[in-house]
Amino acid sequence: MSRVFAIANQKGGVGKTTTAINLAASLAANDLRVLVIDSDPQGNATTGLGVAKDPDRPSLYQVLLEGVPARDAIQATDLEGLHLISADKNLVGANLELVGIPNREFRLRERIADIREDYRFVLIDCPPALDLLTLNALIAADSVLVPIQCEFFALEGVSELMDTIDRIRDSFQHPLQVEGILLTMYDDRTNLTRQVAADLREFFGDQVFRTIIPRSIRLAEAPSFGKPILGYDPRSRGAESYIKLAKEILDHEQNRLPAQGAR
Ligand SMILES: Nc1ncnc2c1ncn2[C@@H]1O[C@H](COP(=O)(O)OP(=O)(O)O)[C@@H](O)[C@H]1O
Ligand SMILES: [Mg+2]
Repeated sequence: MSRVFAIANQKGGVGKTTTAINLAASLAANDLRVLVIDSDPQGNATTGLGVAKDPDRPSLYQVLLEGVPARDAIQATDLEGLHLISADKNLVGANLELVGIPNREFRLRERIADIREDYRFVLIDCPPALDLLTLNALIAADSVLVPIQCEFFALEGVSELMDTIDRIRDSFQHPLQVEGILLTMYDDRTNLTRQVAADLREFFGDQVFRTIIPRSIRLAEAPSFGKPILGYDPRSRGAESYIKLAKEILDHEQNRLPAQGAR
């Protein structure tokens, strides 16, 4: 059984890509097969996983719009069991080009249908917009993970994302779940961060992951070495926090299994 997560928040700089890379690596470290799909034209997840942007290799654009099978676009990374479908700036055009296509919101879902079962988890890193790429990711996904930076305008835009999730459930009859809201860049030395985190917990209740990702220079440094934090500084607080998040998600899976068996 595979599970597909979209990592989404239309605000930029909230930790989506950092979460995609490091959660993927932490899940793979549990001997699980994991695929990251980079769906942001900036290609930060691609670079952060140490994969060079090679114009001769098919990326997500070719999978979505040029009929290249997803299987042919999969690349290995330095981490055992962790694979990637890369993104590059070609993907900028996808938002426009998808508009003219029938079932345009379902394109990604259809294109990965035959590979998703090869992986235990598929993580889709979304762009910082509620655009067609993000819609495609949400419809391809079983559930959404929403990173929120613990800062003053944290809630800005999140209600719009939640409305979009509701709309997808209703209009497309797609039972999209919220896997969890992830507090990122948490700095316990500041009152503001603590207050924002408390507010978010009050607002979203147990939808908020127990695991909190601390602000950590090491997490910010790792991508420039093309490595997840597990490969860069496995003993850092940042690495520990993403290992904890992977455990929390694996717990969700455990709890979900009996319910599915009963159906
Ligand atoms: N927990 C963290 N501590 C410190 N810096 C972080 C942390 N998470 C992300 N960053 C840095 O913040 C910036 C934005 O993070 P990123 O994951 O790229 O956000 P997004 O994908 O939502 O735009 C990047 O420079 C990243 O390295
Ligand atoms: Mg990003």
